[in-house]
Amino acid sequence: TLKKLKDGLSPPITPKESNDVPIFDINKEKSTVSITVVGASGDLAKKKIFPALFALYYEGCLPEHFTVFGYARSKMTDEELRNMVSKTLTCRIDKRENCGEKMDQFLQRCFYHSGQYDSEEHFTELDKKLKEHEAGRVSNRLFYLSIPPNIFIDAVRCASLSASSVNGWTRVIVEKPFGRDSDSSAALTSALKQYLEEDQIFRIDHYLGKELVENLSVLRFSNLIFEPLWSRQYIRNVQLIFSEDFGTEGRGGYFDNYGIIRDIMQNHLLQILALFAMETPVSLDAEDIRNEKVKVLRSMRTLKLDDVVVGQYKSHTRGGVTYPGYIDDKTVPKGSLTPTFAAAALFIDNSRWDGVPFLMKAGKALHNRRAEIRVQFRHVPGNLYNRNFGTDLDQATNELVIRVQPDEAIYLKINNKVPGLGMRLDRSNLNLLYAARYSKEIPDAYERLLLDAIEGERRLFIRSDELDAAWSLFTPVLKELEEKRIIPEYYPYGSRGPVGAHYLAARYNVRWG
Ligand code: NDP
Ligand code: BG6
Repeated sequence: TLKKLKDGLSPPITPKESNDVPIFDINKEKSTVSITVVGASGDLAKKKIFPALFALYYEGCLPEHFTVFGYARSKMTDEELRNMVSKTLTCRIDKRENCGEKMDQFLQRCFYHSGQYDSEEHFTELDKKLKEHEAGRVSNRLFYLSIPPNIFIDAVRCASLSASSVNGWTRVIVEKPFGRDSDSSAALTSALKQYLEEDQIFRIDHYLGKELVENLSVLRFSNLIFEPLWSRQYIRNVQLIFSEDFGTEGRGGYFDNYGIIRDIMQNHLLQILALFAMETPVSLDAEDIRNEKVKVLRSMRTLKLDDVVVGQYKSHTRGGVTYPGYIDDKTVPKGSLTPTFAAAALFIDNSRWDGVPFLMKAGKALHNRRAEIRVQFRHVPGNLYNRNFGTDLDQATNELVIRVQPDEAIYLKINNKVPGLGMRLDRSNLNLLYAARYSKEIPDAYERLLLDAIEGERRLFIRSDELDAAWSLFTPVLKELEEKRIIPEYYPYGSRGPVGAHYLAARYNVRWG
């Protein structure tokens, strides 16, 4: 109400989880959690959100009293929603098991309400239905905005004014993109904050929910052997690599407005970089971790055009099959220069990382699908075995690879004597392959993130100052690329990408892993 008086705007949702209010125990008999998927008819809802909710239910991670509501403009009955959703639910956890009964139980907790995203009246109707299911219990409400960004604010306004909880917490998960540069991101943040407090906003970056990204801190801070090496003193360069072996087919409309730098680098790869490079946080508390991430981002040098290479995939015929180029997609404007590939060299100007290149590479329609962090260590000073490596001393350095996907693994390349009477060395891997070590299926990133949002754990969500810092690194170069209409280097669908990426790396004495 204070905000309303000050800004002449509608009242914000009262934060229920601030420090002076005890955090609500979601498992208590008298409480309930209502999860509303706004945009339930869409691709993300079907592909990720409902399956993740089901997996949580299957694992017994959802509170006793919960309801899932789908909300979108499409006309659907509860039964039709259940039908639609049931097609994408899988027994991921144990594929041999028939989880049909659990699936039915879950679907019975799913309901649908059709409404416009900018209609307070329609959200009031939703509120009524939610109340019926909450049956007088303390109501906690989670809204998942799985809609295009141009309607985020309308939906937040209506949800906050007409359907927020009156006696429990209200939280909103916001999907990327969070703007397309510093200004639009700041505008989105301030619009969201008209209706929500910062601690009610859960900005999702699903890479933070990936198992190996979560494990980064464990690897660094709970093993004695890594942290002492984690600096310019021993690390020559760090590579953050994302590649997909398919194009933007079907998503061209969205993608063309963003491009690979905004789609992958500014968020997913930069978040990994921040976790990789941050100082030891005071504790595992969300604010302590996010404080350290912000410090790293603020210590980074703004990216320069000189340190960026952009590419775009073109049509390619292989084995009699023709793979379409980016601009062959009907939803992409003719002559679009939007990059589907980019490589960049970034630097952190602090005492730990001074001079160490952090190289990022991200691309669509490449020869493989992988996401990796590769850490190349320095040469061994005065290496007694140098002569065994000939002139290519880079071959003799250690490399730590954290493979985020697929085939999750952590491996360390070391030099080893080839068994035998002679003295021949080769590089071998100390290999922790998850599939060989752990029998349990790795949860999807959305499961972890949804569970965290329900539990009020913010560690894996992006705070607004992190977002500002991330955008200020990339905004100038994005503007320059667009204003100067920089022509991307064209690469064939299914190839290794533009050769320019190799020249960029070579400038910093780096060879891509
Ligand atoms: P969709 O394009 O499928 O949109 C979701 C729903 O929003 C649609 O089913 C439609 O529902 C409604 N909608 C679509 N366009 C409009 C419009 N112009 N005006 C009003 N309503 C509209 O999006 P996705 O499900 O693919 O993505 C949702 C959000 O998640 C987006 O912000 C996206 O950027 C983000 N995201 C998506 C990923 C993905 O893999 N799909 C990955 C990462 C992020 P109805 O017509 O029934 O109202
Ligand atoms: C999304 C991007 O954020 O991440 C997509 O918008 C990309 O372009 C996707 O395909 C990759 O996610 P994942 O989990 O499949 O690696």
